[in-house]
Amino acid sequence: MLKVLVVEDQPAVCTALELLFDLHGIPTLIANDPRRALSLITSEDIGAVVQDMNFRRDATDGAEGAKLLGDIKRLDPDLPVLIMTAFTSLEAAVQLIKEGASDYIAKPWDDEKLATTVKNLVRMRELSQENTRLRAQGWRARHELAGSYDLCGLVYASPEMHDVVSLAVKVARSDAAILITGPNGAGKERLAQIVQANSRRRDKPFVQVNAGGLPDELLEAELFGAEAGAYTGAKKLRIGRFEEANGGTLFLDEIGNLSANGQMKLLRVLQTGEFQRLGSNTTHKTDVRLISATNANLSHAIRQGRFREDLYFRLNVIELTIPALRDRPDDIEPLAQHLLKNHAEEGRKGLVIGSEARQALLDYDWPGNVRELDNRIQRAVLVCKGTTITPSDLGLEHGASGGVRTSTFGSSSAPPPPMDERAPSYDASERTQIEQVLTEARGVVSKAAAQLGLSRQALYRRMERLGIELERRPKG
Ligand SMILES: Nc1ncnc2c1ncn2[C@@H]1O[C@H](COP(=O)(O)OP(=O)(O)OP(=O)(O)O)[C@@H](O)[C@H]1O
Ligand SMILES: [Mg+2]
Repeated sequence: MLKVLVVEDQPAVCTALELLFDLHGIPTLIANDPRRALSLITSEDIGAVVQDMNFRRDATDGAEGAKLLGDIKRLDPDLPVLIMTAFTSLEAAVQLIKEGASDYIAKPWDDEKLATTVKNLVRMRELSQENTRLRAQGWRARHELAGSYDLCGLVYASPEMHDVVSLAVKVARSDAAILITGPNGAGKERLAQIVQANSRRRDKPFVQVNAGGLPDELLEAELFGAEAGAYTGAKKLRIGRFEEANGGTLFLDEIGNLSANGQMKLLRVLQTGEFQRLGSNTTHKTDVRLISATNANLSHAIRQGRFREDLYFRLNVIELTIPALRDRPDDIEPLAQHLLKNHAEEGRKGLVIGSEARQALLDYDWPGNVRELDNRIQRAVLVCKGTTITPSDLGLEHGASGGVRTSTFGSSSAPPPPMDERAPSYDASERTQIEQVLTEARGVVSKAAAQLGLSRQALYRRMERLGIELERRPKG
């Protein structure tokens, strides 16, 4: 487990915190001043910092704490810092949250709450470090793949896509039939191009047929060719796509829409490697690598009797499945930036995607996948009035959601009121708190001060400012 670093000048507070964290199994380091703290942050594996606002007896303005926070954030911007504030300085603590502190706790603290908060911060840090490590690893892996293979300008950052692309380039060199599945506009055709570009047939023809787009009679002529006069309107010899692709790759798109007759004809050529032109008995040999694609669920179609199982097994020696864009959110922003660059090429070079628009892109469901993203970016480039693309430029005005961070810890669980309404109520709660601690300490100022994490003098100063007077108690 990563350690928690306590930065605090008062030995009593240090001891109490160390004991508390120890009880909760959190390894603890103590620094009595900011310099020591910064040195420990560079030399040790720290998961979270719990820091005081003042490190000298007479200081109460929190300036030292603010400076330390700034120094920590410069050194390690992601290190979570929990501010310990002596009840009187809640306002200053809230300011520090704006400057990057994760949260604050008011002294005297609630042991359970404090330990839980610190544990959560350390856990968060561990997760984010793990994330960073995985990201770096992923980046290296993508970089290596792009260095060894032609990825045809494919843009991605997600591990999901990396798996698909890795498999695609690996199987590209064999002649095995490949079935590419995935929803509309997810990049199936792109992936087919990548397979071709990394195959031994890369310099041979890559011929594409939309299997769903032609009526039966024409499909046969399209795939296998036709002799002159083979059917009405066939004036001259027509070369089919299988013949055209000979030696190369045939990409059969929308294979799920192939008619029963088309399926049978296709199966026959795959079984025999031979075909005949329409209107001819001469058999032609064909050497094509077949890549097919569909956005339909073929297993479902097979169960319903709409797709031949034997053909399915011929087509699907290897299946490459492209996940929907919403299932690989890491790809959304890189793709959006790439597409923006494409569309903004002429005239609108300075355009940027604003943070609300970025959030809207991430929140959206993307039923049309990358093609829809492409369309929305194109639209935004056209309609954007300024230099920053907004959710409404993308037609995604309901997707945005801005997050406001509120403190989850401290003397009140409600978010802090607006700055200008705050001082009086803070003074009031500070007074209540001091009075309560003093009562519990039976008026013994040094005891109350220790409990509050303050020096005796500092407590006296605050009592004076808040007009708190000690009840006269009879001695003994
Ligand atoms: N990862 C990507 N990087 C860059 N461009 C991409 C990527 N994925 C898809 N595209 C682009 O998005 C558009 C749609 O992709 P493609 O045509 O390959 O999808 P498809 O799955 O074949 O769609 P359909 O189901 O409609 O046939 C194309 O312009 C393609 O170039
Ligand atoms: Mg396609």
